Amino acid sequence: KFIQSYDIVIFGAKGDLSCRKLIPALYQLEKKKILNQKIRIIGVGRANWNNKEYAKKVFKALNKFCNEPIDIKIWNIFKKKLHFCNVDVTNLKDFFLLKMILSQLINIKIYYFAMPPNTFNNICKGLGSINYNNKPHRIIVEKPIGTSLASSKETNQQLRKYFQEEQIFRIDHYLGKETILNLLALRFTNPIFYNIWNNTTIEAIKITVAEQVGIEGRWKYFNQIGQTRDMVQNHLLQILSLITMSQPKKLNANCIREKKIKVLKSLKKIKLKDISKNTIRGQYTTGVINGKLATSYLNEKGSDKNSDIETFVLIKANIDNKMWKGVPFYLKTGKRLKSKKSEIVIYFKNIPNSVFKKNLNDNYKNKLIIRLEPNEGIEIQFFNKMPDINSNYKLINSKLNFNYTSIIKNKISDAYERLLLESMKNDQSLFVSQEEIETSWEWIDSIINSWKLNNMKVQLYPSGTWGPDFSNKNIK
Ligand code: BG6
Repeated sequence: KFIQSYDIVIFGAKGDLSCRKLIPALYQLEKKKILNQKIRIIGVGRANWNNKEYAKKVFKALNKFCNEPIDIKIWNIFKKKLHFCNVDVTNLKDFFLLKMILSQLINIKIYYFAMPPNTFNNICKGLGSINYNNKPHRIIVEKPIGTSLASSKETNQQLRKYFQEEQIFRIDHYLGKETILNLLALRFTNPIFYNIWNNTTIEAIKITVAEQVGIEGRWKYFNQIGQTRDMVQNHLLQILSLITMSQPKKLNANCIREKKIKVLKSLKKIKLKDISKNTIRGQYTTGVINGKLATSYLNEKGSDKNSDIETFVLIKANIDNKMWKGVPFYLKTGKRLKSKKSEIVIYFKNIPNSVFKKNLNDNYKNKLIIRLEPNEGIEIQFFNKMPDINSNYKLINSKLNFNYTSIIKNKISDAYERLLLESMKNDQSLFVSQEEIETSWEWIDSIINSWKLNNMKVQLYPSGTWGPDFSNKNIK
């Protein structure tokens, strides 16, 4: 009955996510000729706009967030797809206005919930009331899906009243990044990595997502959440699970999720007595970033001067299974750090009985560095003999370096482009299941509870540095 064309309905069309990410991603898909003629983009929000006025706002957003000049030819095609519907999601009656637009075409509806989670219930109810919540229609929900295990279950229950699991696409935009997509390919196609990917060879793994931005005017949201819930529960634990999971039987959503859940379930709970040894919480103070003065977290707009919320976190984690026993995983992320830098570093053990033991410099290790951002690429660091007629074996640290720019000329597509496309294809492999979310929350909740019980305060760090000084701790 349904044709393979879509109405992409954005709840929260006026909001930041829509303007900053969704609209530019859809425009890029138009540019790549992926959006067919019948596709409509229906912005939903509280405004008395007609389609033309909405198009004007969209054009403004594109100019602001696209990082490239807008191609007028493409825009002329794109703007014809734009529709607007004035809906207050708390008012059930307003959904009939939406129904009038939705019923004009038998397109599959993809509803993007680009609004805070406390609106999800009303949106679901509204879509249910106009009978537009059944298969093959689907929804995309943005994080945070809850702020704890209990609240994530509650949010899920609200969604599941109106939508089945196969209709729910839970976004973690990191899963749409090319460098993250590459992790499984890298691990499961190359024997040089596949065969050494365990605790016999690997000494430690460090996952860092350093951000230069602050909280970007989101004080109220961020201050209830903090960096651990904002970044670790989702993005960093997803990266960790892709790095440590065993090989899935197939590359489909069920098989990949099954393996990811297995490692997430093996994450060792950090004991209360070890919490201050194994974690660090930080908060940024005034500092200098790119030569400009950056304000402290407590002086951000709308702030409450007594907040003890963390803008930086470092967690030493362990996975309690045969493959990873004894390997520490350092999960580190913070805002207002020196520069934007995301990477996974895999440290290899030195060969215990190497005949070169004496010649090795302790500061070096074999390392595999997977650069997520910037300069996407992969680097291997290894020992090499320095050519020198006078010395026998002076070993130096050498590098093999691969940059994505050597294989593609164009800019790598933004994660949202990829994820919107996957949702149209009805493929959930790059989306997170409720079970993954709950398992992650369980682990994060236990850390946050221990912080509370131990009254573990944030350590201050100046903006523009790499975070609090933890050189005196047993943690890298
Ligand atoms: C979001 C967080 O999920 O990810 C933000 O809510 C964070 O606080 C952002 O800044 C980071 O995403 P990226 O793609 O810029 O690393």
